[in-house]
Amino acid sequence: MSFQSLHDRGVIARWREFLPVSEKTPVISLNEGSTPLVHSPRLSALVGLGCEVYIKYEGLNPTGSFKDRGMTMAISKAAEAGARAVICASTGNTSAAAAAYAARGGMTSIVLLPAGKIALGKLAQAFMYGAKVVAIEGNFDDALRLVREIGETEPIAVVNSINPYRLEGQKTAAFEIIETLGDAPDVHILPVGNAGNISAYWMGYNEFHQHKRSTRLPKMIGYQAAGSAPIYYGKVVEKPETIATAIRIGNPASWDKAAAAMKDSGGTVDIVTDEQILAAQYWLASHEGIFVEPASAASIAGLMKCMGKDRCATCPMPTIAEGSRIVCTVTGHGLKDPDVAAKHISGISTVRADKSAILSLIGG
Ligand code: F0G
Repeated sequence: MSFQSLHDRGVIARWREFLPVSEKTPVISLNEGSTPLVHSPRLSALVGLGCEVYIKYEGLNPTGSFKDRGMTMAISKAAEAGARAVICASTGNTSAAAAAYAARGGMTSIVLLPAGKIALGKLAQAFMYGAKVVAIEGNFDDALRLVREIGETEPIAVVNSINPYRLEGQKTAAFEIIETLGDAPDVHILPVGNAGNISAYWMGYNEFHQHKRSTRLPKMIGYQAAGSAPIYYGKVVEKPETIATAIRIGNPASWDKAAAAMKDSGGTVDIVTDEQILAAQYWLASHEGIFVEPASAASIAGLMKCMGKDRCATCPMPTIAEGSRIVCTVTGHGLKDPDVAAKHISGISTVRADKSAILSLIGG
């Protein structure tokens, strides 16, 4: 690879013509994006009807989640505006990305986190990347309200997805899917928390459709955790709860945009329980070798619940047409949440360092 092409990587370099940047924008990148779109033969078989299921593996971004796509834009634009410090509220992944990109851009980062509700890997990331970490006695919705208030009075750039550059960067995942498949898929399934990502994908799909780079628009289907499902229930959830801490959100900032994306595309929103999320997380790792964090598994849990051959008779989901191409975005890496994963560690047998002892243990 030439020196030049090394510098052509990252979502701003790759999709510059579709992003609000100019020569004046200092590009702060960690070569994010261009993540694999992995075909899943087993999920395809589970859906049946000649459908093909693909997994957009966003855990392979530099900080382990899709947030890097939006953060390269938010931090580059903050640097262009001369910001020295950035702030965000987060359930963990936004803070990891903000801290990493701020470090890369020579800025200070401040992250507001709901105390006790951040997966260990994400907390470690915030500290490693040098963020000022503030745990608040409240949930993500409280933290976001405080960030908005601080952004109004202090010279600190807010890099939550209420910052429009974030969604601009995140829409590039839809571009990549269209480029890989040669067209948009028929159905796109995502976990929904603060509701920015599903809104960003819908923007991206529409933009490429307008540029005639695709011939169709996918049905956008969002899954919320049953205990944190304000869009599904149509009302703010005051005390959201779920094992999928990344989407433990009761009053999403991009609620209206996401609801419009799901409705206008002919898709819908539904819920999955924590049990279904954990089962899907384990299934995906143990059947397809893709280890995602619990929130990410919500999209797989939803596919299994509503689109499998065994879907329940009362399923509100639009029926999937024969031969559909379905994309599930898995948003964050499984290693981010070691506590959840560690529950699977059981019965480790220690034997003599001896071939016959090993063979007798494994039944060889
Ligand atoms: N999956 C993961 C792994 C996430 O971290 C998030 C959001 C989502 C899904 C939902 O995406 O908010 O755009 O609907 N995490 C935010 C954070 C809230 O602070 O890291 P969304």
